[in-house]
Amino acid sequence: MKKNEYLYLDHAASTPMRDVAFEAYKKTEVEAFANSAGGHALSRKAKNILEDSRDNIAGHFGVAPKEITFTSGGTEADNWIIKMPFINNKNNSAELVTSEIEHEAVLASAEWVESLGYRVNLVPCNNRGVIETQDVLEAVNSNTEIVSIMLANNETGIIQPVKEISQGLKALNFKPIFHSDVVQAVATTKLDFHNLGIQSAAISGHKIGGPKGIGIMFLSSEVKLPSFLHGGKQELERRAGTVNVSGVASLSAALDEQQKNMISQNQKILNERQEFEEILKNSLDIIVLGDDIDRLEHISNIQFKGINSETLMVSLDLQGLGVSRGSACASGAQKPSHVLKAMKISNDVINSHLRFSFGWNSKKGDGVHAAEIVMASIEGMK
Ligand SMILES: Cc1ncc(COP(=O)(O)O)c(C=O)c1O
Repeated sequence: MKKNEYLYLDHAASTPMRDVAFEAYKKTEVEAFANSAGGHALSRKAKNILEDSRDNIAGHFGVAPKEITFTSGGTEADNWIIKMPFINNKNNSAELVTSEIEHEAVLASAEWVESLGYRVNLVPCNNRGVIETQDVLEAVNSNTEIVSIMLANNETGIIQPVKEISQGLKALNFKPIFHSDVVQAVATTKLDFHNLGIQSAAISGHKIGGPKGIGIMFLSSEVKLPSFLHGGKQELERRAGTVNVSGVASLSAALDEQQKNMISQNQKILNERQEFEEILKNSLDIIVLGDDIDRLEHISNIQFKGINSETLMVSLDLQGLGVSRGSACASGAQKPSHVLKAMKISNDVINSHLRFSFGWNSKKGDGVHAAEIVMASIEGMK
């Protein structure tokens, strides 16, 4: 890394577009700009790119192409799957089960469901940030329409027992839809949705080196839901609107590169994160969340004892290191993180946490360099 170059460690909020994704976007926009729903040669070209990309993406997740619908991002996919089972639901007692540590896209959708008069059961996590399978299974009953549990948390990186929950759900007499927000998990995990036992999933392009404003909803062909957007007949009539074919082609290219390099990329990210955490642990009074449990390779959520994280974040920014206090959606609001609150961490302590997140283009030495900046900033704050 060149001296004075800004070090970006906020990949969990958004990671830069990969070159292959950028090229695929440009190429499609130039050569296949036509509306993919039209009836002429250029439309057919766009449609072919769209369907080839869908096949490719479906293959990466072990599902059928018709189980993939393109959305504007993870938020839309989460909104769709959480809300739709409650539209025109004849059962006034229908219920939703989700957890206290979900992303705002799920939690705000759950609030909307509640505002319609339906019951929402929010399952807590334990103080290590893990949702316990038994708690989820106990919250489910014959009225449960949908269970939504994220595969890994975006603020802590802590991995949740989604496969175990799906196995538990299968053993019950009730058969709710099982949705998982895998937006953050997919950045460093290879996933097979059927094997994971979920019927629906939300994915976002800009977390894996694709563009912003494009996402995927996986919906198992076993599940039938009303359309989310009404208008044209695009996307098997599930989501009306001219499809963002360039975004889809670009996401598909990003996914190819990401999946091909996953093992070496994860190792590289992990090395940097480990060096970063080790240096800080040896010199400062810190706690790394999820230090001894399964955690996504790229995320490091750290408590700096006795330090105000807002002040530290500003100081790091001035010294050329970009990090965040948690979810980008929540940090603007300056509210204490609902995820850390769910882990029974007090507001005072929450205000001493920062999230550092590495990404596909993190380089050797970034971990050491970041640790040096953190230590210099803390020294300067004394
Ligand atoms: C876990 C999780 N779910 C959903 C989203 C929302 O995705 P998008 O930005 O594509 O709407 C994010 C983005 O921060 C996320 O981390």
